[in-house]
Amino acid sequence: MSDALRIIPITPAAQQAAVDYRALDVARDHADTLVDGLGRPLRDLRISVTDRCNLRCTYCMPREIFDESRTHLERAEILSFEEIERLVLLFVRLGVRKIRLTGGEPLLRRGIEQLIERLARLQTMEGRPLEIALTTNAVLLARKARSLKDAGLGRVTVSLDGLSDATFQRMSDSTVAVSVVLEGIAAAQSAGLGPVKVNMVVKRGENEHEILPMAEYFRHSGIVLRFIEFMDVGSTNGWRMDDVVPAREVIERIAQRFPLVPLVPNYSGEVAERWRYADGGGEVGVIASVTQAFCHECTRARLATDGKLHHCLFAGDGLDLRVPLRQGVGDRVLTNLIADSWAQRTDRYSQLRHEIAGQPVRKIEMSYIGG
Ligand code: GTP
Ligand code: 5AD
Ligand code: SF4
Ligand code: SF4
Repeated sequence: MSDALRIIPITPAAQQAAVDYRALDVARDHADTLVDGLGRPLRDLRISVTDRCNLRCTYCMPREIFDESRTHLERAEILSFEEIERLVLLFVRLGVRKIRLTGGEPLLRRGIEQLIERLARLQTMEGRPLEIALTTNAVLLARKARSLKDAGLGRVTVSLDGLSDATFQRMSDSTVAVSVVLEGIAAAQSAGLGPVKVNMVVKRGENEHEILPMAEYFRHSGIVLRFIEFMDVGSTNGWRMDDVVPAREVIERIAQRFPLVPLVPNYSGEVAERWRYADGGGEVGVIASVTQAFCHECTRARLATDGKLHHCLFAGDGLDLRVPLRQGVGDRVLTNLIADSWAQRTDRYSQLRHEIAGQPVRKIEMSYIGG
């Protein structure tokens, strides 16, 4: 058996029972051999850098639950930039090629540019391409786009659920004007943070009437608009299958007005199905996590704000990396912990969704796990 396949089982429960990390302090070569229990490599790391947000999207942080009295994580509970940088280096050595910073709202994390600078330095140190992207609601983007670019950020994806203030403000439960988000998008484009993508979560009866106006607005703009099926992330957003507008329906509605041609994926495991406007108006996409699960190609791990490592967006628990980090364990132990947990991974929630429907499943909230 190769070293990469010799698995030391470290489950979250085992970890709580005070694991002796010395057993993991052995040199093992995981390079290019690490795959999970279903043969999937580890390629992307999504890092939630804060659990705070300046919006309250009803499908993510419903205000009834995430109100002013809700306590956020304390500073000491959140991974520091040094800790994130150290972990990212180990992930890169295990095969990660893309980092996506998320939240909550990542631009609310003070000094986020310093984290980006640290991550950008790793690209040169390791001599490997490392894409650094960020998903934001763009409320603070107009004033930050230039400094983010200067720090080394590659590109941004902006969440925007409609073009009319009425729809946007209802979906985001805020008084922010759509123009603020559009100014953020424009600033990102002129700073060179592209290709900029825009994510629109579609909810039946809430914002489906914005599908065509959004498509029309972002055609010929160089921006890639993606429609996302409303997902049952966490357990507070009142998800019902009836509220999901299937991606197929979205594409049919757009194609009736603007003919579309299918495109091949940019890379294996891309979550979005890509289309182009037949008249040369650019690209549009759909993310059909509910109606067309893409678990078989899922190469994403998630580092939550508090340092827990989750292997699925719908995970109930994760592997606490903050504990060993703060106990001062060495890189070999951390690397083996991460590699072993990936090797044991068999997650495919979206493929099983309908089989487990109705069963009580505890899932981490979107604002901790970062989407
Ligand atoms: P690029 O392809 O690099 O542009 O990024 P991305 O589409 O992976 O990232 P983004 O943050 O824009 O995510 C788009 C949507 O896909 C969000 O709603 C995510 O929650 C969702 N998503 C991303 N990864 C996964 C995944 O592994 N599983 C599921 N079910 N949804 C995902
Ligand atoms: N379903 C689908 N997409 C969601 N997002 C947040 N919550 C949900 C949900 N329940 C999206 C955001 C953001 C991305 C990271 O995830 O709009 O664009
Ligand atoms: Fe904030 Fe994004 Fe969640 Fe909306 S979807 S509440 S902008 S983290
Ligand atoms: Fe990956 Fe889980 Fe999403 Fe499936 S549901 S694609 S396993 S994150």
